[in-house]
Amino acid sequence: MIKFAILGYGVVGSGVAEVMAEQREKIASVVGDAVELKSILVRHGYPGDPFADKMVTDFSLIENDPEISVVAEVIGGVGAAYEYSKRALLAGKSVVSSNKELVATHGAELNEIARRKNVNYLFEGSVGGGIPLLRPLCQCLAANRVDEVFGILNGTTNYILTAMDTEGQDFSEALQKAQELGYAEADPTADVEGIDACRKTAILADLAFGRNMDASAIPTRGITKITSADLELARALDHTIKLLGHAIRTEDGCCAFVEPHLIPLSHLLASVSGVMNACVVRGSAVGEVMFYGPGAGKRPTASAVAADIIDAAQHQAYRKDTDLGAPGGVLAPEAALISRWYVRAEAEPDEVRAVFPEAVPIYGSSGECGFLTEPLDRPALEAKLPALDARAHYRVLH
Ligand code: HSE
Repeated sequence: MIKFAILGYGVVGSGVAEVMAEQREKIASVVGDAVELKSILVRHGYPGDPFADKMVTDFSLIENDPEISVVAEVIGGVGAAYEYSKRALLAGKSVVSSNKELVATHGAELNEIARRKNVNYLFEGSVGGGIPLLRPLCQCLAANRVDEVFGILNGTTNYILTAMDTEGQDFSEALQKAQELGYAEADPTADVEGIDACRKTAILADLAFGRNMDASAIPTRGITKITSADLELARALDHTIKLLGHAIRTEDGCCAFVEPHLIPLSHLLASVSGVMNACVVRGSAVGEVMFYGPGAGKRPTASAVAADIIDAAQHQAYRKDTDLGAPGGVLAPEAALISRWYVRAEAEPDEVRAVFPEAVPIYGSSGECGFLTEPLDRPALEAKLPALDARAHYRVLH
């Protein structure tokens, strides 16, 4: 019998306990051995909970338990989660995690410890929630040089933008609903300011390009400035607005950034609504593939974490390596990247055309106009904007 522990009993932790118990028989047949939950690390008791008898408050009971060979870290953050992951690996246990902040910040170091100890460090649930994404990227697309990865990587912001766009909800109402549904981070600033998507973009870039990126250096812009006027004008221009994480291979590294993009309504990403995430990978042999599914929430994320527990249980003798790359990934400046841009401005058509001769401004109910520019890099765009009363500008997906 293989025994595992769960660190943390929040939305995801309780989902992992549930899913592993529900599929106990199927999992035993896949692994060829029973996989049983032995302990759950909690800060306080949960009287009456079906797993109450497994709860412990002292991590060393798990660390020093020779029966526990797999530990699922779903605490979040980089404090206790980092310390316990490291101690569990050093104690010779495999660790699986859905903690994108930890994987983006310390994942390479933790993976190196796992290598030394010949155990697994797996983190499928850290990007895209329940979508099978990291394994396909690393395994099924292993014969490709990956040139570009981009997608909707945060369920909370996609839920908010969808509710604002299709139901006319305001930003705070939609955010509150996303929090109630268990999608948002403990501090939703990480969602709405794009920080969560930035961490996921860094993990994808590490895996895709083989060099470890400093997530904090990735230019990141969130959704807090997007207004209903932007969504209305985008639609009139046959686009919608989505927060995308984007990483592009360059000669000596990659160019990565997170920001709202205008997406043509004809693009598959435009129809990704609510908590759904989707990620496009462009590979040298396969071309473009898109992965789609629920990007947050209890059971979808638990599905990915449980799959990692099963994989770790199956790979006790031969570890699986998900390589986060050597340190020192070079981040090319995003400013040099040429795109078309959406601009919202309070301006007459003649004023717009004096600055952007090819633009066709469209007017919305606020009286402001929206238009798409010719292809430009960001500095060239920003040099032109002061000549107009421009209120917002967002990149248009190629
Ligand atoms: N807060 C995250 C999201 C949770 O909304 O996508 C899943 O990583």
